[in-house]
Amino acid sequence: MDFDALMDVVKNRRSVRVFKKDPVPDEMLEKIFAAAALAPTGNNTQPLEIVTVRNKAIMHEIETIIGEFFLPPMTQRFDAPLMLVVLGDPRLCDGYPQGFVREGILHSSLCLAVGNMFLAIAALGLGSVWKEVPPSAAVRIKALLKIPQVFVLKTILPLGFPAKGHREKRPKRKIPVHHNTYHVAKFKSNEDVDKIMRRYCRVKELGKIRAL
Ligand SMILES: Cc1cc2nc3c(=O)[nH]c(=O)nc-3n(C[C@H](O)[C@H](O)[C@H](O)COP(=O)(O)O)c2cc1C
Repeated sequence: MDFDALMDVVKNRRSVRVFKKDPVPDEMLEKIFAAAALAPTGNNTQPLEIVTVRNKAIMHEIETIIGEFFLPPMTQRFDAPLMLVVLGDPRLCDGYPQGFVREGILHSSLCLAVGNMFLAIAALGLGSVWKEVPPSAAVRIKALLKIPQVFVLKTILPLGFPAKGHREKRPKRKIPVHHNTYHVAKFKSNEDVDKIMRRYCRVKELGKIRAL
């Protein structure tokens, strides 16, 4: 096992929103799915399912539906050659022990699978970005793709080869780490939190909805 090789992939993973037109080879997709399959899941329930969409008209329809939930409505076009619609089967929540927030375990499991996919995507020289889907949009997208409504639509990942010059600035800060007990003196004031949001977040004007 090579930590430096792992960190190279971790550092290379970036959110990519501008793509070349080249198609994504099926062998690469299989590798991405293999990485997802190996992620940890609550009680090993493996709730992940994926719908791949390559049809341009359907992808545009999906982007339009999501865009309608922005205020004011706007389309968010990525023009990726492919989209991965990430689903979770909540019926598998019955596999989680009683007394836990079972749906939370499902969501956490899906996020870890997506994390593995992001690393595989980066290692293959591809790019993607987490596309958040509002619940009402998810209902319509599931209907469009004939996905049974029972599924959780966790995210949609546009996927393709990154276009040149896609790399945006990505400021990252050190994670606050506390030893033994929480170091209360390091507890951020609300003003500090506000400053962090303005410095690091993509949406700078808090409370105002803009295209991400
Ligand atoms: C849960 C989650 C939701 C996100 N939603 C969106 C989104 O809807 N649209 C978008 O363009 N990026 C979205 N992102 C990507 C973040 O903006 C991005 O990860 C962040 O700015 C850091 O950049 P990096 O991924 O290049 O490190 C999301 C990321 C996460 C983890």
